[in-house]
Amino acid sequence: MNPKVIDENRQGTTLKTIATSGNTKKLFIESYGCQMNFSDSEIVASILAQQGYDTTDALEDADLVLVNTCSIRDKAEQTVRKRLEKYNAVKKINPGMKVGVLGCMAERLKSKFLEEEKIVDLVVGPDAYKDLPNLLSEVNAGRDAVNVLLSKDETYGDIAPVRLGGNGVSAFVSITRGCDNMCTFCVVPFTRGRERSRDPQSIVSEVNDLGQKGYKEITLLGQNVDSYLWYGGGLKKDFKNASAIEQASAMDFAQLLEMVARAQPKMRIRFSTSNPQDMTADVLYAMAKHDNICNYIHLPVQSGSTRILKEMNRQHTREEYMTLIDTVRSILPDCGISQDMISGFPTETEQDHQDTLSLMDYVQYDFGFMFMYSERPGTMAARKMTDDVPEEVKKRRLNDIIIRQRAHSAYRTKQFVGKTVEVLIEKESKKSAAHWSGRTPQNTVVVFEKDQYQPGDFVMVHIDDCTSATLIGTPLHYSKTQND
Ligand code: SAH
Ligand code: F3S
Repeated sequence: MNPKVIDENRQGTTLKTIATSGNTKKLFIESYGCQMNFSDSEIVASILAQQGYDTTDALEDADLVLVNTCSIRDKAEQTVRKRLEKYNAVKKINPGMKVGVLGCMAERLKSKFLEEEKIVDLVVGPDAYKDLPNLLSEVNAGRDAVNVLLSKDETYGDIAPVRLGGNGVSAFVSITRGCDNMCTFCVVPFTRGRERSRDPQSIVSEVNDLGQKGYKEITLLGQNVDSYLWYGGGLKKDFKNASAIEQASAMDFAQLLEMVARAQPKMRIRFSTSNPQDMTADVLYAMAKHDNICNYIHLPVQSGSTRILKEMNRQHTREEYMTLIDTVRSILPDCGISQDMISGFPTETEQDHQDTLSLMDYVQYDFGFMFMYSERPGTMAARKMTDDVPEEVKKRRLNDIIIRQRAHSAYRTKQFVGKTVEVLIEKESKKSAAHWSGRTPQNTVVVFEKDQYQPGDFVMVHIDDCTSATLIGTPLHYSKTQND
């Protein structure tokens, strides 16, 4: 999901200590994987705050350690296993500490975790976080606790997330859970269950609350945001059985997006992830109509070969994807577009790989998130196909894709040089304490001198120079969005 589909290679993010409210127990929570996991950890922290836990960033002090896990590729699971070893070492010093596994790995491995990893006391799947208080009682009574039931209607819409580890400027708001797409390589439909949408009123309340707290940007999150459909609750696939009134008053993603944009006209609105098969022109028109909806779309394609797309059970051809790109560019000429790509899916030939590279040349993506195919147990590809592309071929093709993406990113950043762009300041630049780092609406990173500005400010910045991924500029003045 999202431009920031956070790669498992990066370090898991430990959530910072939040203001204590008289709670005495300490929770250490780490998140790996996609933004949905980071967002879910905020829900977990909220549920546990009611149980007397405040978060801590010191593992050694924790009464409870939770790791929110990712199963998307084997490497992601290996990273979590390493962390479990670390917790094990700490638990030896602090035997009272309890350890729980949350999220996709919990769902995939279920109680096997308790057997395999003796250190784990608690296994909780993505739809079972409201059961945490009961599960903790079990654990505190000396019993192992597991709840990996998937739900048909849980969206956590009624829980106000505790914002953790963020910059106070940008926040995630989840709008759908699960995925019904069954791409043959993907474990998500098995670990996160069927797709369901969250009540729009609860989404808007959360966005308004963030606005009041001074947040300047929100990202609406879902595995497949364009397929958002609210008709009164329940699974997306059950919509056909909804009452006539529910069907007539249903709300789709374009309508939700407009509702959110109108509710907070000074906030930047982003969304992730878009699936090409579900993206409609209505969404593009909503983006064109509202200045505060950022012109940026994360539009994973996975492969440029129609044959491979079919094997992946993606519901579009190479040509249909290209037509969608043309439509995006005709309605939103300055829209940033990014991709997810997989190298070495079973049966991928050199010609299929060349098709991927030529599709990339056609789109010239602004950014990309690129991966070698990793066979996931239980998926259709694992059951029906042989993982037959040798590791070194996958690696070489991935490298080709990365090199091509770098060239396209460099081309895209160059187009900004000499222009003036609106930047929302997020944080200090990693490379210089004298500079701020922020993003354009197209999601390109901009760095510039701090001057009198602060994180959360919207600043017009003249772009003087660029690297392949970053724009370097001079701030001119606060933007209209700030002063309106
Ligand atoms: N819902 C999003 C993707 C979720 S997973 C969508 O519509 O595409 C994020 C990315 O991980 C995917 O886009 C895909 O590129 C990658 N991915 C998923 N399963 C994978 C696997 N088995 N091997 C390698 N990459 C995978
Ligand atoms: Fe996975 Fe495809 Fe859904 S990549 S998350 S099954 S859209």
